Formats: sequence, C-alpha cells, structure tokens
Amino acid sequence: MPETIARGLEAARARTSGLTQFGDGELTMQHSPLMSPLVWDLAHIGQQEDLWLLRGGVAAAQGQLPAAIERLYDAFENPRASRAALPLLSPGQARAFLADVRGRVLDALARADDTADALFPYSMIEQHEQQHVETMLATHQLRSGETLLGPGAPLPPGRALASESVLVPAGDFVLGVDAADEPWSLDNERPAHAVHLPAFRICRAPVRNAEYRRFIDDGGYADRRWWSPIGWRHRLAAGLERPQFWTPDGGRVRFGTLEPLSPDEPVQHVCFYEAQAYARWAGARLPTEQEWEKACVWDPSAGRRRRWPWGSAAPTPALANLDGAALRPAPVGAYPAGASAYGVEQLIGDVWEWTSSRLEPWPGFTPMLYRQYSAPFFPGAGASDGDYRVLRGGSWATGASAVRPSFRNWDLPIRRQIFCGFRLAWDVIDG
Ligand SMILES: [Fe+2]
Repeated sequence: MPETIARGLEAARARTSGLTQFGDGELTMQHSPLMSPLVWDLAHIGQQEDLWLLRGGVAAAQGQLPAAIERLYDAFENPRASRAALPLLSPGQARAFLADVRGRVLDALARADDTADALFPYSMIEQHEQQHVETMLATHQLRSGETLLGPGAPLPPGRALASESVLVPAGDFVLGVDAADEPWSLDNERPAHAVHLPAFRICRAPVRNAEYRRFIDDGGYADRRWWSPIGWRHRLAAGLERPQFWTPDGGRVRFGTLEPLSPDEPVQHVCFYEAQAYARWAGARLPTEQEWEKACVWDPSAGRRRRWPWGSAAPTPALANLDGAALRPAPVGAYPAGASAYGVEQLIGDVWEWTSSRLEPWPGFTPMLYRQYSAPFFPGAGASDGDYRVLRGGSWATGASAVRPSFRNWDLPIRRQIFCGFRLAWDVIDG
C-alpha cells in the first residue's frame, strides 16, 4: 500500500508540474482576484506536505521554511486576492522547496507502517495536491491570452439516452462511509448511517449546453419568477446573462480559445443561483446531496452500497472523465459502462454538480487530524460567511484519487469559475 500512495503522490506532482512549467511572469501574475497566483498554489502544496507529513501537523515545529515565510501560505490568514502582493518564494525557490520536501516524504513513507492509520495523512496530502491542481486549472481558465495547455485529449462520443430520468423509489439507504470501507475518505464523508428518502426522480445526465441555451433564449435571465430573491439580487448586481466564458453569440472561450458551444456537453461555469433558476424554469429542482448519493451508489437489489456507481473497479477512461487530460466535459451519453444501479450516468467526473444542500456534518461527525478542513465551513462556524452549498461527483479536472461517491465539495452559491454544472430532480407524489 505505501507503493500505491507513493505512485499517487508522484502522479499528483506530475500534474502540478505540468500546470506550472511556465515562465516566472506567468506564475507570479494574479490572473483573477478569485484565484491565487500559480506560484502561491505551488509553494502551498509543499508547505502543507511539510506540515502534515514531516511535522505531524504541529505548526509550531520548525519546518523547511522560516516561520515568517511559511505563514504566507496559510490559506485562512491570506485571502486569495492579497496573495500576489506577498513576498512569496520565487518559482525557482518554490520548485526546489517542493522537491526537497518530497524527497524527505518518500523516505518517511518507505519506512511507514503498512496500515490505513499510518498512511491516511499521505493520502490526505495526495488529495490536497490534486485539489490544488484543479484550482490551478481554474486559474488557467481565467487567464487571458492563448492557452498554455493545448487542446486536450479526445473523449468518447456521446449517445442519445433512452429516457431522460429514472425513478428512485422511497426507502432506506446508507449515506456516507466508514473508514473501514473507505480508508481515504475525509472527515465530512463519515460515518455511514441509514437514511430514509421519499421517492424522487433524477435525470440520467447533467443539463447540456443546448438545453441551457433554451433557458437563455426563453428569457430566463430576465424573468425573476425563476430566481430565488437572493439569486435575483445577485444576478442583477453581477450582471449575469449567460454562463461564465460563454459569448453573446453562442460561443465560449475555453482555455483562451474561442470555439462553438458543443450542444451535448454538460453546461459548466454556472453558479448555484443559475442552476436553481434553470431548474425552476424546467419544472424541476436540484437534487439534495442525499438523493444524489443514493442515485450514485445504492444498489437496491443487493441492499448495499457499491464502491463506485458502476461497481467496485477503480475509475478508468472508459468509465469516467477524470484526471484533467481532456480539458473539457464529455458529451452526454459518453459512459454507458459508468451507469449506476438506477441507470444514472456521468455522476463521477465531467462536472461538479450543484445540490440544494448546505454543508452540514453527518450525525457522529468527528474531525480528522486536519481539524480545520470541514468544521469552519459548517453553518454557524467562525470562518463561515454561511450558505456553502455542496457539489458532488468531481469534474473532468478532478484527480481520480481525490473523488469518491461520498466526497463532498462545497462553495459559495455565487461561485462559477469552478468546473460546475448540475442535473435535475423531481418530487414523486406516491399513490
Ligand atoms: Fe490548500
């Protein structure tokens, strides 16, 4: 198992290097106030690895960087918009720091006990680096000028789905996971517990660009009936008229290239309020995260969870669009072999899916060793300005080791620079 983790750490590092192998100016520039300069993400990846894997999370212990420098990489102390002005490590210094830390970490890993408890911090840091890789892809998407990343790898073709939605009958299922079954699950995914859900319908695929286009053409952005009061206020204040990176004439800019919209690709770069408005316009609603997870992993005939929607096998390019090579979501219908027991597709990969749920702890929540990972974002917690909404399933940019059916992402409802879309759900009136 340590060898698997070592390979995972190296795979994450290869992605990090691929997104930061550019001139110093590219790395130190702030491409958007929403994002850090790439060089901040780069050194922060090493700082967290140093903190959790070489010092056991003890911030007061001496690390590889002087304390005054290390503090610059504390995400809570330094808001993203302020980071370009900090006296950060240069790109060259950051790369040397990462390589030094990684060498020490691989030495420690080779000596580590082959137990889930001993290896959990290594997996947590692997997932952390993969999360920052996705963040850095969002920075690349916000950057202006010609792409540094190329067009992306080919994807399987889409196909028409025989039905739009499936019925998930009322009943109990097991929400969340335990460490015994998912040793690398993070604190807010645990523990596994039985939940009863009424019957609902859920779409077999995320909402596509062509469908979203019809909402715009129907005047959806000008009709406040479809918007929540706070969503409408945000739409006006932010001047939202279409998904981020769409052009008024039906194109979109993807990593610096203007291209026609692919009608069958899941829509991405819409905020929670836009997703909610579209759903109302369509006579539907967003799923709760409990509904999403049941449709994803519950096997009703076996009466238990699957590890992945399709079964127990790890994700492959034939099952899901992950790991970033494509630089885009796959068209709807591209992964028939990735369907869940209920026949729902593309739950893992392609686009993060907004749910209607706020980030809340599952009953029996216990913080993991990185105690500030989840708890500050729960309702009423100190660091929270509230109303974080949960997104599920990962995107095309997410590392396969950093997502599970139980994985819970969260963001503010106005955010749309992330690779996010949504699917529709409906109540079912029994009888
Ligand atoms: Fe981080």
